[in-house]
Amino acid sequence: MNHLLDIKDLTKKDILNICTLAQKIKLGLVNFDLSDIKICNIFNEPSTRTFMSFKVAQQNLNMPSFDLISQMSSLTKGETLFDCVEVMKSYNIKNFVIRDKNNFFYQELLKIADINIINAGDGINQHPTQALLNIFTLLEHFNFDLKGKNFLFVGDLIHSRVFKSDLEILKHFGGNYYSCCPRNLVDSSEIVKPVSKVSDVINEIDVCCAYRLQYERHEQNYNFSNFNQLFGLNKNNLKNAKKEFVFMHPGPVNYGIEIAAELKNAPQSLILKQVENGMYIRMAILAIINKKVVL
Ligand code: CP
Repeated sequence: MNHLLDIKDLTKKDILNICTLAQKIKLGLVNFDLSDIKICNIFNEPSTRTFMSFKVAQQNLNMPSFDLISQMSSLTKGETLFDCVEVMKSYNIKNFVIRDKNNFFYQELLKIADINIINAGDGINQHPTQALLNIFTLLEHFNFDLKGKNFLFVGDLIHSRVFKSDLEILKHFGGNYYSCCPRNLVDSSEIVKPVSKVSDVINEIDVCCAYRLQYERHEQNYNFSNFNQLFGLNKNNLKNAKKEFVFMHPGPVNYGIEIAAELKNAPQSLILKQVENGMYIRMAILAIINKKVVL
């Protein structure tokens, strides 16, 4: 594996191997030294979790790590991402973690030989490392057994690259899928059954995956004043949830919208586990694409 671009490029075996490696790293059973490999992070969209967890992962692996500050770079003068990466390659940087507003930004970059690209989010298309850390968090929580689980997806599904990547991964593990969101935010998929209110289905759900309303990608200002009551999680609808019910969110959360503020520290929340596991998944990916371990 030279790149990580799209979850569809991974088999179930690959996904399980990546999660198992992340778990071994987390438990301190394996460690890698990548001090001979330079890496550059190029984030052309804002980020806290993905950027910082990659930075910490790179430091944990002793990688010389460089950040291209997009707003201060020649990208603002019209230089292409392709030319930018070629410049970095001339400095002997071969690893790139890139987030960009354009879907499939990486396609052109694949013409450049001898580099490794990790997609840190492309437009509304994919966010593969986030989906890997999400499935790792779930596998860890449910003792690596997701058979027959019922999933509910809420939030801005149509604009969420995380939702699309999550669904690609979850398909490998079976289960039943429901979605609940306003009509203008639906991302239709034959395997996901839409429901009109969270309360209609909450008593059957094992895992709710919530996704941020991405106002910055909306073409008009929608009125979301009743969103949480109908389509979000709150203490009231959780009264009917199963004892084992848990919820996730890739962050950042719009508290009061996808998830009520009263649930911020709820025992059912896996959100901070997701954040923590992001670092271990990203260490595992960096070790794999640099051939320090074979999948
Ligand atoms: N989940 C996620 O991608 O968060 P950031 O935008 O903070 O990186």
